[in-house]
Amino acid sequence: MKISIENISGIKEISAVQDRLSQGEIIVVRGFFSEQIMELLENSIARLLENEATWMPLYDECEDYHRINDEYPKSYVKAKTHSFMFHFFKKMNSDLLQATMPLWDLKLQWGGVNEESAKNAKLTALPSDGYIARVVSHLYPAGGGYLAKHRDPINQANMIQTLIVGSQFGRDFKTGGLYVYATDGTPFFVDECCDKGDLLLFDQSFQHEVKPVDVKQNLDWGSMAGRLQHVLLFTRSDYLKGSVADVES
Ligand SMILES: [Fe+2]
Repeated sequence: MKISIENISGIKEISAVQDRLSQGEIIVVRGFFSEQIMELLENSIARLLENEATWMPLYDECEDYHRINDEYPKSYVKAKTHSFMFHFFKKMNSDLLQATMPLWDLKLQWGGVNEESAKNAKLTALPSDGYIARVVSHLYPAGGGYLAKHRDPINQANMIQTLIVGSQFGRDFKTGGLYVYATDGTPFFVDECCDKGDLLLFDQSFQHEVKPVDVKQNLDWGSMAGRLQHVLLFTRSDYLKGSVADVES
């Protein structure tokens, strides 16, 4: 297992990227998103934080919302996280959609969707269409936010999981963070190789976890202190029953 620093031109070909990832390479695409785009994401989160935390099923009436997972027993993986959902079937999020378009373009290109009209249809689809596009921002709050060690099942809607690094190790948080484990169990501490705004790719069939963040601080669910990451996802709506649940982190 090794960590490689890349630029965008090095990750255009999905088959080459998949080969590298499946062999245990962790790819960091440096500076994928500008400071302005990271700020737009943070401002969107701050606005959402003014509402009460809740949860909503993914139907056409679904609003943007934020959710606290304080070791919720039904979670696929045990976690202490604060998540923020922004849905692109909402016109109010068109700025966020435009700002994150380079990564949507890449994800759609990987999925073989190149026609402009087909792209738009996928990006603005309603829950009643089946799958929707959204950005989910996960905060692992200072004071012990974490995600237990796990592997993720293959997810056809998101061939490669794309994590956007939303905080800086050493500045925004000092201890804990993302570890990926080689097949022999050797841990790789990924966050020390990442800068805010980087795109991070690794094969999620390797075990990984977010170790508790800044445990010596008090946990405050109203604070954005801690480790932040953003994920762009095509997510199955709750109109589709009986499928395997999508995994979002
Ligand atoms: Fe995961």
